[in-house]
Amino acid sequence: MTDSKPDVSPLSVPVRSQEEILRLRRQHLNPTLSVSYREPLKIVRGEGAWLYDQDGQAYLDMVNNVCHVGHCHPRVVAAGQAQMARLNTNTRYLHDNIVEYALRLNSTLPAPLSVVFLTNSGTEANDLALRLARAHTCAQGVLVLDHAYHGHSPSMIELSPYKFNGKGGAGRSPHVRVLPMPDTYRGLYGPSGDAGQRYGAHAWSAVESLQAESMAPAVFYAESLLGCGGQIVLPPGYLAEAYEAVRAAGGVCLADEVQVGFGRVGNHLWAFEEQGVVPDIVTLGKPIGNGHPMGAVVTTPEIAASFVTGMEYFNTFAGNPVSCAIALAVLDVIEEEQLQAHALRVGQFLLDGLRGLQQRFDVIGDVRGRGLFIGAEFVSDRDTRTPDPQRARAVVEAMKARHILLSTDGPDDNVLKIKPPIVFSQANAERFLDQLDEVLRIL
Ligand SMILES: Cc1ncc(COP(=O)(O)O)c(C=O)c1O
Repeated sequence: MTDSKPDVSPLSVPVRSQEEILRLRRQHLNPTLSVSYREPLKIVRGEGAWLYDQDGQAYLDMVNNVCHVGHCHPRVVAAGQAQMARLNTNTRYLHDNIVEYALRLNSTLPAPLSVVFLTNSGTEANDLALRLARAHTCAQGVLVLDHAYHGHSPSMIELSPYKFNGKGGAGRSPHVRVLPMPDTYRGLYGPSGDAGQRYGAHAWSAVESLQAESMAPAVFYAESLLGCGGQIVLPPGYLAEAYEAVRAAGGVCLADEVQVGFGRVGNHLWAFEEQGVVPDIVTLGKPIGNGHPMGAVVTTPEIAASFVTGMEYFNTFAGNPVSCAIALAVLDVIEEEQLQAHALRVGQFLLDGLRGLQQRFDVIGDVRGRGLFIGAEFVSDRDTRTPDPQRARAVVEAMKARHILLSTDGPDDNVLKIKPPIVFSQANAERFLDQLDEVLRIL
């Protein structure tokens, strides 16, 4: 497929080759910026679930969980353009957009979650949440899940085993306790009915270990499905058990919905809902602005009140009228295009298709997920479940050659991650499954 729309830039930016851009990035930009694929792509336009390169070649985007309602959704673009042409200021003036957004967001969340703080990113949301939790509990300790990622600031790197135990990481900080991932495929406990409780019980011992060092838990951070952990679905009862342990010791519980919120998981708008719990704090990001930088924290009136110490919380850009207009348009599109139900339908079709492939190809050890948040785990031996990251990465490159964009993750980097914009269609899913079938036959 090629692009029918010419690449017309509104700016007079010189058009450079991929090689030239790479060279200039290496020379003048932060050297830790990574690029995807052996031969990086230069993408110049996006529409729906499609990205287009500088030659007009189309690529099916199965990676981007930020441009949630589709790349450059006209409704979202128009909302941002109109508000930008009218006014952009900060929260020190009264404006309708911010209160309307708070009302709309709150109407989707269970009581007592009803106080909204807006931020500019998921990291900022998680950072602010840590301050809220500490202000409320007067404690410092934090429980996190192994391999989790919660953001790039110093305090969030300390809460992200994905980073502090990874390359260049400084290891675990004294106030942090790491719980095992409740991975029923390769974790401590198999898929037994009580796996959720057994994994959740580790929160009790983590709390005791903090107390043994004269600390108490302020907060437990958990994604409601584990992203960097390898697209892991929490076993039933997991959060209920872990929340009980944390709350019994005076801590609060946070659901990081930065990757999995806003209907992606299909069965619910918020992924924590499947676990039957109500967190004390919910953090949001990525899809909230469909690519516009934004994040949010929603908490209870009690916790929010503990943050009222006399110190102002001012955030120059957060909650500005443009961001709120965009975020409102995202909620409108999710609702009007019934994208949550769509994610459930297409996600189920993908899961069924992947399970069909799993029956034919031994390299796929496990298929899991909810809605359009799916993982396929590659192994070199089904019985020993030996991770096969080389194969997973080879699949990603081979699919890219077929113009389908994917990525890998998980502790062993052997999980094919599927998290496209949720407008991803049944036809897109069929195309992906057909191409993956061919690639698996060849590789
Ligand atoms: C679960 C989770 N939380 C927080 C963040 C941080 O969000 P941001 O990159 O917007 O700062 C990320 C980003 O990848 C994430 O996946």
